[in-house]
Amino acid sequence: MVAAALTTLVMLGSVGCDDVRPVSEPCLTVRSGETEVEFCRAQLLGRDDVHEVRLGDRGFYRQAGPLTLKAVPVEVLFAGVEVAPDAILDAHGTDGFSAPLHANRVLQGLSSGARAHLAIEEAGEPWPPLGAGRPSAGPFAIVWTGDDEGHVSNEEWPYQLARLSVEEPLTRRYPSLMPSSGLPEGDPVRVGLEVFATNCMPCHRFNGAGEAEMGPDLNRPMSPTEYLTEDGLRRIIRDPRSVRAWPASQMPAVTEDQVSEDELGALIAYLEHMAARRPSPRPSGPALP
Ligand code: HEC
Repeated sequence: MVAAALTTLVMLGSVGCDDVRPVSEPCLTVRSGETEVEFCRAQLLGRDDVHEVRLGDRGFYRQAGPLTLKAVPVEVLFAGVEVAPDAILDAHGTDGFSAPLHANRVLQGLSSGARAHLAIEEAGEPWPPLGAGRPSAGPFAIVWTGDDEGHVSNEEWPYQLARLSVEEPLTRRYPSLMPSSGLPEGDPVRVGLEVFATNCMPCHRFNGAGEAEMGPDLNRPMSPTEYLTEDGLRRIIRDPRSVRAWPASQMPAVTEDQVSEDELGALIAYLEHMAARRPSPRPSGPALP
């Protein structure tokens, strides 16, 4: 992961946003259609609207105690770029992780008053590590202020950011995620799709849809609802290590503040519903042995 991060930094360092800058100067790429703009650390930190953001007990540093980070409003990255209200911002990390964010939440904030900012790690003042033996959340991360009621999920705090790209809503981009069109609005299966897209798609593909490379596809070739008991599936989601454990496992426990019990029920309803909606019996691409 560290090696990948370094490669990205060196790579970005060689395609200039400024002619003279150290090779290690990190930059964030913002892409919308054919347009690509780079924002580099020094340039962002030199803006008039740089401000300090005090982190509370949410997001990737919730265990690190109160921290104050330098940030700019997230909107500055999208000046002059048209972003449809239902667009998705794909947040790509330096390690291949990708999280879909709702553009309207990130750019307009929530009615509860929560607001997103782009936090920037300063050259001489590295942020704390994300955990023992891990790098920091820098060079860039999305952080939230004013989330007093906990409406923002941890998946909406992407860190080690390398690129943000403006995309069509997931269901238009990936019709294979869609449940049966006959389901009424508000049906648990529909709610489950939202829960899945926000909390699981950063790491899991589904019917081949998505960009994640970390965990298995959760509907192809089989759905976990077909080979796990419901209790086993709930436990793998809530506490994977209580089902099976090995040193390199990467699936995090999905806690009740991220996904409530009702949302977990909806998520399982979605997985069950979709097990019967698999586009082809075998994934396309190389045939399975
Ligand atoms: C940070 C990445 C990440 C997130 C987020 C994540 N998973 Fe996983 N998941 C994994 C990885 C990686 C594995 C493979 C086992 C491992 O390394 O722990 C896995 C394994 C699983 C398995 C077992 C599949 C099998 O056949 O072995 C299930 C089921 C599962 N995840 C469901 C979910 C669901 C549902 C969500 C959303 C609520 C979710 N995961 C969120 C990374 C993630």
